[in-house]
Amino acid sequence: MNNPNLATENIILEAKALSRHYAVSKGFLKGHATVKALNDVSFKLAAGKTLAVVGESGCGKSTLARQLTLIEEPSSGHLVIDGVDIATANTTSLKALRPKVQMVFQNPFASLNPRKQIGTMLAEPLLLNTDLNAEQREARVREMLKIVGLRPEHYHRYPHMFSGGQRQRIAIARAMMLKPAVLVADEPTSALDVSIQAQILNLFMDLQDELGTAYVFVSHNLAVVEHIADDVMVMYFGSTVEYGDKKTIFDQPLHPYTRALMSATPAIRQEDRRVKIKLTGELPSPLNPPTGCAFSTRCPHANERCQSETPVLRPLANRMIACHHVETIV
Ligand SMILES: Nc1ncnc2c1ncn2[C@@H]1O[C@H](COP(=O)(O)OP(=O)(O)O)[C@@H](O)[C@H]1O
Ligand SMILES: [Mg+2]
Repeated sequence: MNNPNLATENIILEAKALSRHYAVSKGFLKGHATVKALNDVSFKLAAGKTLAVVGESGCGKSTLARQLTLIEEPSSGHLVIDGVDIATANTTSLKALRPKVQMVFQNPFASLNPRKQIGTMLAEPLLLNTDLNAEQREARVREMLKIVGLRPEHYHRYPHMFSGGQRQRIAIARAMMLKPAVLVADEPTSALDVSIQAQILNLFMDLQDELGTAYVFVSHNLAVVEHIADDVMVMYFGSTVEYGDKKTIFDQPLHPYTRALMSATPAIRQEDRRVKIKLTGELPSPLNPPTGCAFSTRCPHANERCQSETPVLRPLANRMIACHHVETIV
């Protein structure tokens, strides 16, 4: 279930059939239901590369991000960080693994403690995870402020004194303090002004060049993804529907959902896309999932088979794809 093109590279993060299900109350005295937020998601991420995870709101992107950053434990499946399966790792190796994967959240206003000076906040990961003394920590913080495009005098300021874009730079700096091997960024530019988004994207790309960090970059915006990704995973209703390298996916999107997303993004190159698909309707309710292919309720090509049989992810034309009759509709 892995991207066939990645097999030989230096894999820093691997997800093997990760699933996360939540028990939710259906209402007073109505018992519980299960929301299958994430189903059997697998990928391999090579050191220094970027996997973009795309899909509409509610498709499971943040749930995946929480499993990858060990904020939650998956219901099933395995996560392998730098060759170590975290399910079987002992306390000592878990402690060593945690700092290797850091996260940047969507909302830079909510993710920073308003009562702490920036310098103190950025020094915290060093205090907890390294033997550096106060002077060395301060030096590292000042170095990182510079790397993310902030100024030395920002060291003693508080979060409320910064703009949204600057706060996201601070959040990125904090995530980068321990030089993680992997950074999981969950819609890190979505809450920012359009004029600032490109600057923050460029910062991500500069940092990757400089520090060699691998990214899992979560976004609902294909134009952003085209800019930053090496590999692209398209998710729908908690599952991967198409996964491959960026060029393959953008040059020749095959899944009807991927093509619908692309048709809905005017900013990306459209010339090669023969078939345009209009995305109508909404994601199905997770409390009442469709039978068969989850996209069948919105897919212009869906037939009886799609409504009864769930398509498995399979290799086709240099990518993985889950669609029964993609060969016949291209
Ligand atoms: N803690 C939770 N409890 C119950 N349902 C959840 C929880 N977290 C997410 N979900 C559900 O899982 C699905 C995926 O959500 P999410 O991962 O936030 O999607 P995305 O980030 O792509 O918008 C949604 O239907 C959401 O309501
Ligand atoms: Mg989300």
